[in-house]
Amino acid sequence: MKIGGLAGLGLAGGSVMNGFASESDQSNPMNSMYGHSTVQTFNMSGYAAPKIPIVRVGFIGLGNRGPSHLNAISKIEGTEIKALCDLRPASVEKAKKVIDGTSHNPTLYSGGPDEWKKLCDRKDIDLVYIATPWHLHVPMAIYAMNQGKHVTIEVPAAVSMQECWQLVETSERTRKHCMMLENCCYDFFELLTLNMSRQGYFGELLHTEGAYIHNLIDLNFKENGYQDMWRLRENATRKGSLYPTHGLGPVCQALNINRGDRMDYLVSVSTNDFQMGDRAKELAAKNDLYKEFANKDFNGNMNTTTIRTSKGKTIMIQHDVTSPRPYSRIHLLSGTKGTALKYPAPSISNSHEGWVNAAEFKALEEKYTPNIVKKVGELAKKVGGHGGMDFLMNWRLIDCLRNGLPLDQDVYDAASWSAVWPLSEWSVNNRSNSVDVPDFTRGSWQKNEPHDIDLKKGGDTKVKI
Ligand SMILES: NC(=O)c1ccc[n+]([C@@H]2O[C@H](COP(=O)([O-])OP(=O)(O)OC[C@H]3O[C@@H](n4cnc5c(N)ncnc54)[C@H](O)[C@@H]3O)[C@@H](O)[C@H]2O)c1
Repeated sequence: MKIGGLAGLGLAGGSVMNGFASESDQSNPMNSMYGHSTVQTFNMSGYAAPKIPIVRVGFIGLGNRGPSHLNAISKIEGTEIKALCDLRPASVEKAKKVIDGTSHNPTLYSGGPDEWKKLCDRKDIDLVYIATPWHLHVPMAIYAMNQGKHVTIEVPAAVSMQECWQLVETSERTRKHCMMLENCCYDFFELLTLNMSRQGYFGELLHTEGAYIHNLIDLNFKENGYQDMWRLRENATRKGSLYPTHGLGPVCQALNINRGDRMDYLVSVSTNDFQMGDRAKELAAKNDLYKEFANKDFNGNMNTTTIRTSKGKTIMIQHDVTSPRPYSRIHLLSGTKGTALKYPAPSISNSHEGWVNAAEFKALEEKYTPNIVKKVGELAKKVGGHGGMDFLMNWRLIDCLRNGLPLDQDVYDAASWSAVWPLSEWSVNNRSNSVDVPDFTRGSWQKNEPHDIDLKKGGDTKVKI
């Protein structure tokens, strides 16, 4: 067992008692239930918190990503932006300008690494948005939930198995929502094909694929691309599928993962790094800033992870943030009666003969577009944010909180989708051996209901544009 693998899995020692993973499981380093209760204390799937007519929001992390959520929330009826926080004063000031001229008048927190705690300590905040570097997500989310706040966390929610469990256990104990902001679940083709899948168009889904193929090499190496180059540091010290959830979230929803099926085990394989190490050495020769990266063992350029579900379906997820390839999340749904594939162009098929033509595609769109898109899709495109999906997600989140409805993505989704990173890391470090995906729902996946994309309830939150 390599130390890196153990560290990623976060397999800390601890006493084993009744209701916890059994003694014999301890000897198996791949059993990531170890040390955690096999009994669910409270089911957060389908959990409806009390209605919050005016959702009072605080934002932590206002770099590249945070201000886009801030802009979206400022346009949704029934929200009050109470507080903005970032380590860097200039980022808070810049973000504040996004909402200048609106009714929102937030308090600003900045200048120290723990200022965000003051925001979480406030009594007049219901929801905390976290869009900070990955290693800060869980400490901030745990603290906020313990202060009685619902939390949303950017992707991936957690960086280790231990952190995944902490999210689950804290959300269950506090009965606070913990939603990972997986915006790709709200992209238009993903929602269309989710509805088609639910209506049986593809028959029984048996295999799905997703990916994050996005060339970020320049941004990762740019001095001011990410604050303190945190994302380069992750790529320089960790392995596997570092950012799995954009491809994984939508296909998990189509497969009813955590709501009828669950991820059982995975295997993961990576190439060597053929790009980042060379770039680091080249830059370090000219600029001392890059010296700490010059001799790092960078993550392999392409990672491929294959997951098998309890019901015998498969999911293939790829991660490549360096190759000069066109952007792709793949989004393949393959069933006994049909297929959907998003990249390079959204395509649907119901036979071996080829994809449906443009007129047939349009007819399918008209028939299967879910109500959430019919209702808010055009408004979302106007507000923008990755073509509208970010706004659809934010609107739906606020509408659920205001109407006291369960959120579309719960803490089990956050934990299990994020867990693919540390689990893939373990597999990569261990000659691609298979590793169990823990059941964060502890059995409730067999009864949990799929989330509502038809706006059966709620849907009355207005938009101010
Ligand atoms: N879903 C998406 O489409 C999408 C897109 C981009 C980024 N993201 C995610 O958003 C998150 C942020 O990414 P980014 O691109 O904005 O990075 P960034 O580096 O631009 O922003 C992070 C911000 O967090 C702040 N920060 C760091 N430590 C802090 C602390 N102790 N207290 C308060 N603020 C602190 C930094 O100053 C910075 O402004 C990441 O999780 C990333 O994966 C998601």
